[in-house]
Amino acid sequence: MAEKIQFELNGKKVDLEVDTDQTLLWVIRTELGHTGTKYGCGEGYCGACTVLIDNEAVRSCATKIGEVAGKKVVTIEGLAKGKELHPVQKAFVEHDALQCGYCTPGMIMNAVGLLNQNPNPSKEDIIWGMEDNLCRCGAHNRIVDAIQTAAD
Ligand code: FES
Repeated sequence: MAEKIQFELNGKKVDLEVDTDQTLLWVIRTELGHTGTKYGCGEGYCGACTVLIDNEAVRSCATKIGEVAGKKVVTIEGLAKGKELHPVQKAFVEHDALQCGYCTPGMIMNAVGLLNQNPNPSKEDIIWGMEDNLCRCGAHNRIVDAIQTAAD
């Protein structure tokens, strides 16, 4: 059923009428045109669709848009401040922590959520915190190194 919903996306107010059963991922990509957030499995397993909701990493494919009413959503497009990349983005570049890049937005958003909760994680904390974000290219070691650098 279509309803009016308001939330904040990357610092800007969003006010739209939408089927509240739609997923946040679908609304972000299809209704709002922010295609940096990726569709992987669509079932909450791969992490490609990870965004922040009120600073916490969440899978947008498994979140109904109705659940984000009044909340602050940040996607990969909202991390940089102007031309200044977020420290996690910078560290991913520095460590070349990607290959095909499809998982990268979700990896970065999950890493930012992890560092929001634990600003000084051990290597093991990072490995455990990132283990449910899948990378089929095998860039995991460089991803862990990048997150360690961002945390330093
Ligand atoms: Fe959401 Fe895979 S697309 S977890």
